[in-house]
Amino acid sequence: MALTREDMSAGLSGQLEVFENRMKQRQAELKSLYTGLYQNSWMYAELIGEMEKYYSERDDRLKRSDAYRESDPSWYRKNDMLGMMMYVDNFAGDLRGVRKKLSYIEEAGVNVIHLMPFLDIEKGRNDGGYAVRDFRKVRKDLGDMADLSDLTTACHKRDICICADFALNHTSDKHEWAIKAMEGDSEYADRYFIYDTDEIPNQYDETVPQVFPVTAPGNFTRVDDKYVLTTFHPYQWDLNYKNSRVFNEMVYNFLYLANRGIDIFRLDAIPYIWKELGTNCRNLPEVHIIVRMLRLITEIVCPGVLLLGEVVMEPEKVVPYFGTVEKPECHVLNNVTTMATIWHTVATRDTRLLRNQFDIVTALPKEYVFLNYLRCHDDIGWGLDYAFLADCEMEENAHKKYLNNYFIGVEGYSNSRGELYNEDPETGDARICGTTASLCGIEKASMDGDKEAMAQAINLDIMLHACMLMLSGIPMLYSGDEIGQINDYTYLTNPEKKEDARYLHRGKFRWDLERKRINHRSKEYRIFKRLRELERIRANHRAFLPEAEVLTVNTFEKSVLVVGRYLDGEKIYGVFNFSEHEKTIWPDEDEGFVDLVSGDMIPVKELTLPGYTFFILCKDESGK
Ligand code: GLC
Repeated sequence: MALTREDMSAGLSGQLEVFENRMKQRQAELKSLYTGLYQNSWMYAELIGEMEKYYSERDDRLKRSDAYRESDPSWYRKNDMLGMMMYVDNFAGDLRGVRKKLSYIEEAGVNVIHLMPFLDIEKGRNDGGYAVRDFRKVRKDLGDMADLSDLTTACHKRDICICADFALNHTSDKHEWAIKAMEGDSEYADRYFIYDTDEIPNQYDETVPQVFPVTAPGNFTRVDDKYVLTTFHPYQWDLNYKNSRVFNEMVYNFLYLANRGIDIFRLDAIPYIWKELGTNCRNLPEVHIIVRMLRLITEIVCPGVLLLGEVVMEPEKVVPYFGTVEKPECHVLNNVTTMATIWHTVATRDTRLLRNQFDIVTALPKEYVFLNYLRCHDDIGWGLDYAFLADCEMEENAHKKYLNNYFIGVEGYSNSRGELYNEDPETGDARICGTTASLCGIEKASMDGDKEAMAQAINLDIMLHACMLMLSGIPMLYSGDEIGQINDYTYLTNPEKKEDARYLHRGKFRWDLERKRINHRSKEYRIFKRLRELERIRANHRAFLPEAEVLTVNTFEKSVLVVGRYLDGEKIYGVFNFSEHEKTIWPDEDEGFVDLVSGDMIPVKELTLPGYTFFILCKDESGK
């Protein structure tokens, strides 16, 4: 990703010409999408004028990086990116603190950091930062915009990209627009969905499912004598994208933040941004028009910036957010189904669904880039392919119940220590919270002082990471996972957080434990070191490039998953035993494979794997 001297001088001459050229290539489509949606050429003209303004204001350093990335559109589609997501305060106190910790981030091999929401919010009522009060102000205790710019500059010097959330579906009810709307200013009321009677709200409720049925029931909130659409929490007011003023202003906010040096925008809750009576208000065609317009605007003003779509839905809903190869929408999407399927496999020791999921993902066009992860700041929802599972004799409701029970440690042979989230007493539906380490049994083994169980739990934890690293795309670690950090129960004593079990895995980063890495017997050392080895293997072997052919192999052993990657004569097999028991498989392969982790030659005619272990087998037949 490093810029060469030539790159540094490129892209700056005739600057406005660069903008105009990019515009020329895209304006016909942008105009037709915009005026098709809004029938307002005056607002379109305003948008174009503002785009030019934000382009002119964009720092030369960022423009150089735009030019460089434009010249290599696959810059983010290699095997050298590794992300880590973190809360600024939990990780390092504030933005300046993060800057001081960049060496640690580099040591962990990370070159993309996702800073969890850091914009201005109201204390207490903010959904972990996703109820923004001011899109142009940093949360006071974390610093200010100058600190953000300093951090992005410092990161770019080290070739580290910064990802930030853009929560565009809603604002906080303390946002200037919401306040003016409540004061009766109709110009601002039109930016939301505010009704005088419950007639229309009731009609919406007939077809719109609830996101948080237990912690924030209902789609509407009574505010004074009005009804306000609040899909998420009562203090998160949904924006009305039928109003072109909303779209334009949110684009300006986006470009403002892009000019502070943000490289990747995570489009929070993107499927929800268009509402239509009589529908479920999810994934409507207009959402795709808006995302496509955002993509075109990005390509014109700041083409070095990537759009990461947060689409926590079943796979057939996710993939359309890539758009088409000719008319792309998001650059990157969260691989949410693979994440949930990996955890399902942990609980069942049955790899059939995971194998099928790998096959689905790897059959997609290689231009599509997924962000792969095991855990994030949210809960794990069980959005699995239940039609497939029915053939494996797993019925949806019973299976969800089993999975939840497994991860809270009360059913199956489970060492997990998770907690339920949004458990609906009526439907019995619930989701799971907890860190990777706690879900893998590290917490329990540590409480029990059981060394053998600890070794097994660490093996499972590492194996899940190794499995995730088999996929093309951008792997994203959850801060703390690199040292096996367990759940944090302090949220239970905090009145602002205790109702939201997601805080179980949103604890402070434990620098006191991180320091234990100097002891080679510590779990922190073992996990950190082994993850680094795996990431190096991934970055150093061309079979991990996205153009590789990827296939799963039937092992006739339910607990063992085999994923093969092939490119230019290099053949790599990831072999993963999801059972705690030893398993043997008989691959149809000739000998000559080296395990890249241990460096040993491994006889593959009869391959035996102890419980929760894996191999990354490699054979180079390129003759190079
Ligand atoms: C996204 C965030 C989640 C938040 C929701 C509403 O799904 O990941 O944490 O609750 O958006 O903003």
